[in-house]
Amino acid sequence: MYRSIENSLISEKLVGKTVKIIGWVAKKRDLGGLTFVDLRDRSGIIQVLINENVERPEIRNEYILQIEGTVVLKNVPNPALKTGKVEVVATKVTLINKAKNPPLIIADETDALEDVRLKYRYLDLRRPTLQNKLITRAKITKATRAFLDDEGFIEIETPILTKSTPGGARDYLVPSRLNPGTFYALAQSPQIYKQLLMIGGLEKYYQIAKCFRDEDLRSDRQPDFTQIDIETSFMTYDEVLNVNERLLQRIFKEVVNYDLKLPLKRLSYQKAMEDYGSDKPETRFEMFIQNVHSALKDEPFFKDFPEVRAIVVKDHENKLSRKVTDEFNIIAKRYGLNYYALLKYDGVTFTGGFAKNVTNPDHLVKLLNLKKDDAVFLAFGAPLNRILSALGALRLTLGKMFNLINTKEFGVLWVDSFPLFSYDPETKKYVSEHHPFTQPLDKDVHKLDTKPEEVLSYAYDIVINGYEAGGGSMRIYDQDIQNKIFEILGLSTNEIDYLFGFFIEALKYGTPPHGGIAFGLDRLTMVLSGTDDIRDVIAFPKNLKGASLMSEEPSKVTNLQLEELYITIKKGSED
Ligand code: AMO
Repeated sequence: MYRSIENSLISEKLVGKTVKIIGWVAKKRDLGGLTFVDLRDRSGIIQVLINENVERPEIRNEYILQIEGTVVLKNVPNPALKTGKVEVVATKVTLINKAKNPPLIIADETDALEDVRLKYRYLDLRRPTLQNKLITRAKITKATRAFLDDEGFIEIETPILTKSTPGGARDYLVPSRLNPGTFYALAQSPQIYKQLLMIGGLEKYYQIAKCFRDEDLRSDRQPDFTQIDIETSFMTYDEVLNVNERLLQRIFKEVVNYDLKLPLKRLSYQKAMEDYGSDKPETRFEMFIQNVHSALKDEPFFKDFPEVRAIVVKDHENKLSRKVTDEFNIIAKRYGLNYYALLKYDGVTFTGGFAKNVTNPDHLVKLLNLKKDDAVFLAFGAPLNRILSALGALRLTLGKMFNLINTKEFGVLWVDSFPLFSYDPETKKYVSEHHPFTQPLDKDVHKLDTKPEEVLSYAYDIVINGYEAGGGSMRIYDQDIQNKIFEILGLSTNEIDYLFGFFIEALKYGTPPHGGIAFGLDRLTMVLSGTDDIRDVIAFPKNLKGASLMSEEPSKVTNLQLEELYITIKKGSED
């Protein structure tokens, strides 16, 4: 037996008892003949006292020791440790394994650089803060499985080696040795398979699914990530949202003991953009974007600007530092805003360089209900979506800067009624906003032929604290509409047949009405464990270049491997 108890379970109740424990040396201090060791296992740290007369091996940080000893009360408790009231006085100390001197401090606070942490990820993983996030992740999947099992869902795996199809992100391609010159794509999501499972009569499916997308990476994006993927048949739109919000309610309760009030708020995409300037709004503070066109329409300066939007900063005294205006400049540049301005209200009129352009301040004061020392950020002179996005970004920056976000709450809501397509003026093509299987709103189907850009859809995102934590939709189950969508996306009949023929064929055999969602498990874990770096919730993450600094993939392969795949590497691409 390596141990009789885990460290964190040792408490006053065990005083006088003998225990056998094992773990890594987190810290060691020698005081005269006495040695104090902080011994760490996954559950926590306990202090061990080794008296002068006890034989001991060499002891260094990260050595693994097994200790037999007696639990005693400490003279001076250590409130920083859960086990801080007691210590174990060793009667026997056994060295189980030695360790090299670790290249990083293994504690919640570490000064190690990111690259060092990623290279020695297995040492980084010994830090309690990272272990706790992985424990949170495991609790989420456990609660998910328990809930979905209760609701009659069954867990089914789908292939990872799949067919490459256009749209969405770039595929990771895998050459086929047995079929020279052909490729699999790593699944970007189980989307088509889960729909085929519905056609296959499985009715309620879920999967904790690995997904792969070759995209530019960000702090909330990884090339391989995990979805909680769900699909159901014979449920209405409201029923689908309901079962998914009850799943979230159960996860929040079991993982962080938070009561999520249902039904969750639903905000249309349009309203989210209008009010928050984002399709993933951070709703834990107000500062809404406001349409101020009516108050400025008679001002000569604004006569060429039909769209003017504003956000108001209340009581700007001491708030509007240089840093704030610098941020506004940076954001305006990023969103290509040529026109933006700041007005300060002194209770009578506006001050600031731009004030002269508002000759009749009363309209604006009244519309925005301004009080002395309020400030107004104006944006105009660009397409509306850019104005809104820029003010949305500014709103978020100001909310963080001024600590306006109520971090005791979770801001959870649905954003729905997304447009079915967006139009890419460069390629002159429509692209699916969600994916090509999303059902158009019944009331908009007639516009598919004439004004596709105006068609809204039964697509929804779940937004938590300003993150898109999941997304889904009701699906098309009529092959004619599905064909039409592919046509609008610019696919020829041949292409449709080559890429999706099997799917179109399947739709003809009595497809049930169905819909579903995929939650980003990594993002859900991020919000529930309070980190804004996705790498904190993944045991072995990649860096922003999609590389592992530990095992050093992607890496070169041998010529023999390449030959078997009939692949040659172009000269010049190797550096
Ligand atoms: P979607 O593409 O919106 O939908 O993805 C669903 C959720 O997966 C998460 N996610 C990611 N997380 C980390 N890294 C990434 N690179 C990444 N990409 C996506 C997000 C996102 O909300 N098949 C559809 C779902 C459906 O319609 O049922 C789909 O994959 O949290």
